[in-house]
This record gives sequence, C-alpha cells and structure tokens, in this order.
Amino acid sequence: MISTAVVGAGNWGRNLVRNFAAAPGSQLKYVCDLNEKTRQALKAQYPQATITDDYSAVLADASVQAVVVAVDAPYHYKIARQALEAGKHTYVEKPLTLSSKDSKELVDLAEKKKLCLMVGHLLEYHPAVLYMKDMISDGDIGKPLYLYFQRLNLGIVRKAENAWWSLAPHDVSVACFLFDAEPVSVSASGQAYLQQGIEDVVFANLKFADGRMAHIHVSWLDPHKIRKVTLVGSQRMVVFDDMEASEKIRVYDKGADVKLSVESYVEAITLRTGDILLPKIAGGEPLQTECRHFLESIEKNTRPRSDGNDGLRVVKVLEAGSESLAKGGQPVNL
Ligand SMILES: NC(=O)c1ccc[n+]([C@@H]2O[C@H](COP(=O)([O-])OP(=O)(O)OC[C@H]3O[C@@H](n4cnc5c(N)ncnc54)[C@H](O)[C@@H]3O)[C@@H](O)[C@H]2O)c1
Repeated sequence: MISTAVVGAGNWGRNLVRNFAAAPGSQLKYVCDLNEKTRQALKAQYPQATITDDYSAVLADASVQAVVVAVDAPYHYKIARQALEAGKHTYVEKPLTLSSKDSKELVDLAEKKKLCLMVGHLLEYHPAVLYMKDMISDGDIGKPLYLYFQRLNLGIVRKAENAWWSLAPHDVSVACFLFDAEPVSVSASGQAYLQQGIEDVVFANLKFADGRMAHIHVSWLDPHKIRKVTLVGSQRMVVFDDMEASEKIRVYDKGADVKLSVESYVEAITLRTGDILLPKIAGGEPLQTECRHFLESIEKNTRPRSDGNDGLRVVKVLEAGSESLAKGGQPVNL
C-alpha cells in the first residue's frame, strides 16, 4: 500500500482525491486544503483520511510516501519542491510549473533524491490518444504530416494564468507525445479581452525540425465546447473528438498522392476518398489510468510516461509561446 496525500482539493483536485481513495495499492492518508468549506465536505466523504490545512504536518509524517499536488498553478513549484525535499514521490498537475527554470529544478531534485516526479498530462493516458499513437507507430496513417487542436469553451476564466497556460499544456503534451519530438519554434497570437494582460484566446503554431507542424487554438471565450484533435497523415487522417460520448475516433481513409504521369512526364496529384472507420476505443476514466500509473511507477521504480522531463519540455514550449505572444506573434526558437 502506498500512503498518499493530496494537496489542493478544488474543482479538479477532488477528482484526484476520489481516485487515490479508490485505487488498489493506495491508502489516502491526508487531504490538505486551505479552504474551510472544502475541508468540511471532504471530512464527511473520506472519514478514513485526515483532512487538514497543515501542509507541514503532512510532510513531517514519515509514513506518507507520495504527495499529489493540485493547488493553483502558481503554487505548484513551491508545494512540489517541499514534497521532494521531504523525500516524497510527487505528482504535480499540469503545467508542472510556470517557468522552465523552476521545472528543471524539480527534475534535478527528483533525480538527486531518486524520487518519482510525474506531471498530470492527462491526455497521454487517454485511450483515444493511445490509439492515435499506435496508428502512427504501426504506419497506419502513412507519414504523420500535421496536427491541429481545438480546446474551446465559455469558461473557466482563470485569474492567475492565461488561456495558453491553462488549456494548452494538454495539446502541447499530446503534440510532443504523438510526434515523439519537441518543436523547434513556436509562434503565438492572442488577445486579452476580459482581464488586462491575461489572454482569453490564443492561436499558436508549433514547428518541428522535419517539417511536421501542430496548430493549437485555445479559448475560454467561445460559444462552442470543442475538444478536438485532427491528425493528418500521408495515407489516412484521424479525428479525436472528446465531446463524443462513444465514437471518439474517426479514421478517414483519405489522402492525396503525387505521382509522375507516364504519358505527360508531369507530376499529377490524385485525391483519394475512401471509407470512414469508427474503431471501438477502450472505455474507462483516463484519470484513473493516470493515477494508477503513478502508483505503479513508484512500486516498480520505473519512469512514468509523463515524467518530470516531459513536464519540463511542455513548460519550455509554453514559455516560448508566451514570449511570442509578447512579441506580437514572432516565431521563437527553442
Ligand atoms: N488535468 C486536467 O485536466 C486539469 C483540469 C483542471 C485543472 N487542472 C489543474 O489542477 C490544478 C487545480 O485546478 P482547480 O481547477 O482545481 O483549481 P481550484 O482553484 O478549484 O482549486 C485549487 C485548490 O487548491 C487549494 N490551495 C491553494 N493553495 C493551497 C495550499 N498552499 N495548500 C493547500 N491547498 C491549497 C485551494 O484552497 C483550492 O481548493 C491546477 O494546476 C490546474 O491546472 C488540471
């Protein structure tokens, strides 16, 4: 049994509390939150755990092996650093921190202390994303060419970080995960309409060394609730629509072939449109898979898929995006 403590049990953190309370191999020992109302509600729900606002008491308890950090993003660094310093395996919600310098410090600290550091890049545990990843590795889509992401809704409007830092970590992590690479440059344009200096909408382009590309559109000021990833390959195209209840993946047997015409000796483009496949995708809550992966990584002493380095590479891209936003969309090299 791995004894765990969740720090931050707000809108998202309570899902982590639920999962770490239910996961086999995990004993939820503490939930720590500064909000009195949140603590009262948790006390009734999780009588087996100590519900507290005293983080230092959690860290001082030698029986606690793992700390799960789901406080607001600006506090990730401080809370995670304290957990690692106290010798606890640490899971941090996305984004790992708000600067690459801080993320690198956490990665180095975890390395030095031989502790597991994992970041909550949830979509890397989503069966639909794993299906896309398999299609790429099996050569089913041909050569992967480009990706585009739409993550739009009305709300939640954050005050500390902009839509890029709040929403795009998922898309950046999936782009790097699917392409198994990090971009060489980022350009981003956006606007702050509701709060000064906090962009509500961002359009970004990630370029990869070999010409692959990912476009990311994030907004919390939009009439549509869309969470969609489109992957275009040289042979097939795949769409992952996370708003669909069951048919989350559509594979389009569509493409274009450039061939030299034997008659004219001129290159001709032929368009292909074939069937649309709706593969059956495994069900289950990706967050449950993610939480269990963290526990398993600790137990087996293996590197989690979304380890600290993965968190760091996403933060570097987010940082470059911020710099580009400040420079009016100029590409920033990584
Ligand atoms: N993986 C995902 O899909 C996903 C989705 C939403 C949010 N998140 C991430 O989860 C984190 C929390 O987001 P949220 O929407 O739940 O925010 P929230 O504001 O609803 O909750 C944050 C909670 O942390 C508590 N808190 C703050 N500082 C604390 C401290 N020092 N000690 C103890 N408790 C403290 C607050 O009291 C609050 O209850 C953020 O990092 C966010 O990026 C991830």
